[in-house]
Amino acid sequence: ISADNFYAAVGGEETFIRLTKRFYEQVGADAEFREMYPEEDLGPAEERLRRFLEQYWGGPDTYSEQRGHPRLRMRHAPFRISTKERDTWLRYMKVALDELELPTEFHDEMWEYFERAADAMVNSLDTP
Ligand code: HEM
Repeated sequence: ISADNFYAAVGGEETFIRLTKRFYEQVGADAEFREMYPEEDLGPAEERLRRFLEQYWGGPDTYSEQRGHPRLRMRHAPFRISTKERDTWLRYMKVALDELELPTEFHDEMWEYFERAADAMVNSLDTP
């Protein structure tokens, strides 16, 4: 399945709205994890993640029109991300993804991507 078909096949914008809304609901409810997010309002962060994911999976290029080249590792450099933060991020994303109830092949492809991408964002050693 080609990239633009993937975006449409999983339900387009509506699906990505549901995914990132559910993800950020959990971020907002976790006081310790939430401290990492610089802005008082999580809405704009939610939209940036959503636009990025839509673009990645073959939807509109709104992310790059607004933010330029993703350079995600660089954009995450200001945040201390060890395996602990990675695992928390993935846990919330898994809940959000599972709740979409996508066909297994789409679900698994997205989940494998999230695991790989989250690994790549780790930039700090675990504190013992
Ligand atoms: C931004 C944390 C993984 C995509 C951010 C921000 C934080 C953060 C604190 C700033 C919020 C904001 O936009 O104002 C984390 C942590 C991760 C993680 C702890 C754990 C591994 C990922 C992954 C992706 C991703 C795996 C993509 C698949 C993004 C995007 C932005 C962002 C697109 C907005 C970048 C921008 O345009 O400024 N993240 N992130 N993040 N994150 Fe992550």
